[in-house]
Amino acid sequence: MQTSSAPGKVYLFGEHAVVYGEPAIPCTIERRATVTVEQRSDDRLRVEASDLSLEGFAVEYGGNGSGGKSERSPDIDVPESLLEAATGYIDGAISQAREAARVPEAGFEVSIDSEIPLGAGLGSSAAVVVATIDAASRELGTKLEPRALAERAYQVEYEVQDGQASRADTFCSATGGAVRVEGSECRPIDAPNLPFVIGYDGGTGDTADLVSGVRELREQYSFAADTVGAIGDIVREGERALEAGEIEQVGELMNFDHGLLAALGVSARSLDAMVWAARDAGALGAKLTGAGGGGCIVALDPGEETSQALRYTVDCVETFRAELDAEGARQEDRP
Ligand code: MEV
Repeated sequence: MQTSSAPGKVYLFGEHAVVYGEPAIPCTIERRATVTVEQRSDDRLRVEASDLSLEGFAVEYGGNGSGGKSERSPDIDVPESLLEAATGYIDGAISQAREAARVPEAGFEVSIDSEIPLGAGLGSSAAVVVATIDAASRELGTKLEPRALAERAYQVEYEVQDGQASRADTFCSATGGAVRVEGSECRPIDAPNLPFVIGYDGGTGDTADLVSGVRELREQYSFAADTVGAIGDIVREGERALEAGEIEQVGELMNFDHGLLAALGVSARSLDAMVWAARDAGALGAKLTGAGGGGCIVALDPGEETSQALRYTVDCVETFRAELDAEGARQEDRP
């Protein structure tokens, strides 16, 4: 039996634009997905998930991933598309581990326990995929280095997201800290420990749909393509501000980024309400994080005002502070 965990993340800058080759800067936060795997004597796969800010689910796959879902807890209460995606991510992660360890017939019991709400812009799927590949490959006797782990996790996201995924979420979760991703170039960057405040509307966004929406706009209007390019400019300026420790400018650029993401149609009334509550409370900056459509915003505030304001915002169901987590995927002792 092996257990691994991997962190979630927030995007300081660059989600969506990164899909078209612009740079992005995500940072891992101290909220983790923990995955325990145990090899079975047959080639089947049984997955149990609890506490994904959902009802949880249990599902068993046919031999070697070839069969459909044969059992499912009857009280499941999540959008079907999200469940399909969640099982798709886990199935893909197990295939990657089997391939890495060259044990194509390996069956597993997989148990997932995540502190990261699913589909809410905090990189839950990347964290689950990274932790699953790490634990399952170690269970089969193969230890993957962070970059190899990140590459395999990316292949899974790429497939589940219909070929519309960047390396940002998976590289960040595998390696930890603040990273810069531009196409296939991924590297850690120096960032001060930023005072993140997260606001969560309790909802989710469908990443594949949201990415497709931006793609269509970009193809239809040259100014939408320019907007994507302008997000890239924000990221370049943001990287400079981060490395110079100019936190106020980082906040200002986050505000700008949110405005452009809203123009591309990926914000939501609830996300805008939380962003404005944070700004009115004096946050240095606030923006949606991840694919959008619903889920989380990230704000910068060293004081308590933003958290207080979010607590009184009708659209916000949860708010918490998050520290930058310098560690990526790691082996956990406890099962
Ligand atoms: C989703 O967390 C981030 C997007 O940029 C998609 C991706 O990078 O794969 C919207």
